[in-house]
Amino acid sequence: MKLMKLTLLVLVSTAILSCGNNRTEQKTAEMSPIVIETPARPEGQNDVFNLTAPKMDIVRVGIIGLGMRGPGAVDRLSYIEGVEIKALCDIHRDRVEKSNAILAKHGKPAADGYYGSEEAWKQLCEREDIDLVYICTDWKTHTPMAVYAMEHGKHVACEVPIAISIDECWALVNTAEKTRKHCMMLENCCYDFFEMTTLNMAQKGLLGEIVHAEGAYIHDLRYLNFLDPKEGGYNDWWRLRFNETHNGNYYATHGLGPVCQALNIGRGDRMKYLVAMASDQFGMTEYAKEKFGEDSEMARKNYAKGDMINTLIKTENGKTILIQHDVTSPRPYNRKHALSGTKGYIEKYPRPGIALEPNEELGADFENLNAHSFLPEKEFDKMVEEYEHPITKEVGELARKVGGHGGMDFIMDYRLIYCLRNGLPLDMNVYDGVEWSCIGELTAISIQNGSVPVLMPDFTRGAWKKASSYTHAMAEKQ
Ligand SMILES: NC(=O)c1ccc[n+]([C@@H]2O[C@H](COP(=O)([O-])OP(=O)(O)OC[C@H]3O[C@@H](n4cnc5c(N)ncnc54)[C@H](O)[C@@H]3O)[C@@H](O)[C@H]2O)c1
Repeated sequence: MKLMKLTLLVLVSTAILSCGNNRTEQKTAEMSPIVIETPARPEGQNDVFNLTAPKMDIVRVGIIGLGMRGPGAVDRLSYIEGVEIKALCDIHRDRVEKSNAILAKHGKPAADGYYGSEEAWKQLCEREDIDLVYICTDWKTHTPMAVYAMEHGKHVACEVPIAISIDECWALVNTAEKTRKHCMMLENCCYDFFEMTTLNMAQKGLLGEIVHAEGAYIHDLRYLNFLDPKEGGYNDWWRLRFNETHNGNYYATHGLGPVCQALNIGRGDRMKYLVAMASDQFGMTEYAKEKFGEDSEMARKNYAKGDMINTLIKTENGKTILIQHDVTSPRPYNRKHALSGTKGYIEKYPRPGIALEPNEELGADFENLNAHSFLPEKEFDKMVEEYEHPITKEVGELARKVGGHGGMDFIMDYRLIYCLRNGLPLDMNVYDGVEWSCIGELTAISIQNGSVPVLMPDFTRGAWKKASSYTHAMAEKQ
């Protein structure tokens, strides 16, 4: 990754009211953003914006990583027509066997198992009879596995974040562009019911121009982070180890993905620069002292990651996004999901609310609106029903039955398989995956340098201008 410090004279606008007239005074201020360069696209390589692949009647799947997350994918995919799970892989043999038991419960044939070594997944990727490699391992293995799978002719779906460095992001982009294979990050929160409804409302213009958005991952993971792998904790303590050495928001995608779709990021707008500020680290040490003792090895470690990481992002079209990350404080779960537009405001946490101004897009059912307060419960329910997204309308009932974070995981898998079977562009392309994931290293760089702005690379190398809004591809009705 090429990183440059650049001193820019930046125009800062200050609005001053004078004698009843609006006057804008231009002032100059100095700041030194860090520029992360965008390397030129190698000759002969084209973008994969709106990439399609030939239709597949059956999608043959190999799944790698069967810890806490992976078996859920085995279960969900087993409900979807046109899926055959051919191979399963984990370092631990018993995890492969447990996932094969899930297939048996569905009356499906056993998949071939790969286990016993950290490299066994390569054999799964090398098979001729697999179309899609579905990755649910820990963060450090995502990109190497995804790149290897694409190089061996497979489409890839990979858990979040799909990359943990800018170099990894470019490896994914370049491999997808070279091999012309799909590479989708499995950002399930984009498919949650309220997020889908509010995306539909935004796309219908009910919020006017969306000016500001907020997302977060606030989830008290102290118990799981400090749980011994032998007792059901993360394999080889991978999440705690990462917190020991990295101070950045490496898990931004749950809050960021849904608001990026509402803001048309990657389709007419792009994230241009960010600043990040981290609190110091308190929570892990305090928790470790309580759990393992004042002088324990766990309590004496220097955990790098600050408890709360705040990130502000400015987009090319002048919008702002606030993203927060805190997994070490005793707080209720919160992904925020707030969208603030010129005609209204919605937020999901701590409880879902909609506040709208009168809008000619709305029918007679919604009169006397006033965005000074949230809609009363009855109107809220009516609006959520009226603007439910067509995709959740179609598959929501089954999704709620199958489950996976209330159904959103199933909708994500359903859409992935639907698009592959119908030869459509996937809902999230490789650029979405890396742009939402690169926040990790970019926030770390900003934090290390006193919260200076960091100019983001353009992973699409201009392809974000090829569309003006986000869409879900749909097959033509027969
Ligand atoms: N989208 C969501 O809502 C959500 C929820 C939980 C976890 N996740 C993501 O899912 C991933 C897995 O998380 P988890 O909680 O299941 O962790 P985990 O530690 O429980 O599971 C990871 C599994 O990967 C296996 N593994 C690691 N290296 C491997 C290798 N070289 N070959 C084969 N198998 C290997 C481990 O043995 C383990 O079984 C993470 O990326 C996490 O961020 C996403």
